[in-house]
Amino acid sequence: MRAIHIVTTRLSSSFIRPVLLDFVSCSPLRQFSTPRRFICAASKVNGGSRSGSIVAPLVVNEEFQNIDVNPPKGTRDFPPEDMRLRNWLFNHFKEVSRLFGYEEVDFPVLETEALFIRKAGEEIRDQLYCFEDRGNRRVALRPELTPSLARLVIQKGKSVSLPLKWFAVGQCWRYERMTRGRRREHYQWNMDIIGVPEVTAEAELISSIVTFFKRIGITASDVGFKVSSLKVLQEFFKKYGVPEDLFGRVCIIIDKIEKIPIDEIKKELGFTGISDDAIEQLLQVFSVKSLDDLEDILGGVGEAIADLKQLFSLAEKFGYSEWIQFDASVVRGLAYYTGIVFEGFDREGKLRAICGGGRYDRLLSTYGGDDIPACGFGFGDAVIVELLKEKDLLPELGQEVENIVCALDKDLQGAATTIATALKDKGQTVDLVLESKPLKWVFKRAARVNARRPVLVGKLVRSVSRFCLQVSNFKSNLMTWSSSI
Ligand code: HAM
Repeated sequence: MRAIHIVTTRLSSSFIRPVLLDFVSCSPLRQFSTPRRFICAASKVNGGSRSGSIVAPLVVNEEFQNIDVNPPKGTRDFPPEDMRLRNWLFNHFKEVSRLFGYEEVDFPVLETEALFIRKAGEEIRDQLYCFEDRGNRRVALRPELTPSLARLVIQKGKSVSLPLKWFAVGQCWRYERMTRGRRREHYQWNMDIIGVPEVTAEAELISSIVTFFKRIGITASDVGFKVSSLKVLQEFFKKYGVPEDLFGRVCIIIDKIEKIPIDEIKKELGFTGISDDAIEQLLQVFSVKSLDDLEDILGGVGEAIADLKQLFSLAEKFGYSEWIQFDASVVRGLAYYTGIVFEGFDREGKLRAICGGGRYDRLLSTYGGDDIPACGFGFGDAVIVELLKEKDLLPELGQEVENIVCALDKDLQGAATTIATALKDKGQTVDLVLESKPLKWVFKRAARVNARRPVLVGKLVRSVSRFCLQVSNFKSNLMTWSSSI
């Protein structure tokens, strides 16, 4: 049975004490000491800166200027309705991470620029929001979380025991060309495993993303993962005698295969000094879509193929085989990956990568730490929202508050405040109306904020027995002013 809470008052000489009663049992839930003269009933209802630079002190004109009320290009405000969606998404990110036993971490949004400067000519480096701070230090807004995570692992050193399973949700900044789902700032959900060299780590990471997709209603027919290994490229380099130090540069070029014409790719590969013959062979390798064909080209089962076979076998055990497929063209656009790499894509091909990650066994040592095996992924908040819109899967999220408390008379504001405080002390959410308002206004507001219980504080001006009314426009719920107390 639905419990209706009624707040009423008991007469004494000059004061009354309002009592919050359970309507079903009529037992007092809480006593208040507040001035007399109110009766109240409740029922359940169904329901930025332009760029990343520190500027010189602002010169204020004598005259006022109209400011641009839009956020800086590529950035977003989060008014309540967008914040509800963001929280919904982040809660799923966090709940899935915890489900898999990962611990949450965070890092500063501002890091030293050096942390993000790598030699391979990555796009991300050209997109850096960087500047000199007032202490003449080169700093940057983080474009991703992985370097900060590596820095923290090195800093913690031997004080942490491996393996680490960490997750983070944080804002990243990239001065990127704006396309659907790509912005100048975005939030990224990351899960990383530090200290596990086996493919079991990659397999678990992909499983956690699949778990997330399933929770929000995305299926294997909507989304898939393209999987490959950078060891394919390493084996190719060995076979064709290509110098190892070209590895990062070649990966960055190959990553553009689906974005720029193939002649451009060939030209860029030519600039690295690789022979025309090796370029043709290389492009053949990256067009391969089956492990068997790759085995033929590479001439046997090397480490790359063995790892990938193990991943596909583990995918069966985890139960997500239908989500993953081999695709040699996935190399990722970041220079630090060393082994298996993967990217989540929408099967209709309308959007850019939904998420991406892989193994980066040498990143820590490039920062001066020990060689510790590591892998992880980043999952942005923007593309997934576009996908949910496409699939009509966006949740309807209204404001949620349990009680709306309103004084119907100005001098009962204190009593309403006391009741609201008592409800909050009991752990209930309360929207306290801060002025006295007529009933009609309160009903409208209650419907707008989805208050489950309006608690109205009013003067007993007529005999209570004549004060019964039913309110039916409250999304078919009943609100009763009761004289039964
Ligand atoms: P990433 O592929 O550069 O990888 O980014 C990961 C994801 O972040 C993308 O798949 C996309 O969802 C989102 N993303 C990236 N750039 C933007 C943007 N400009 N606007 C909106 N969303 C964006 C990394 O960042 C790696 N650090 C991931 C990782 C973690 N690897 C290992 N651990």
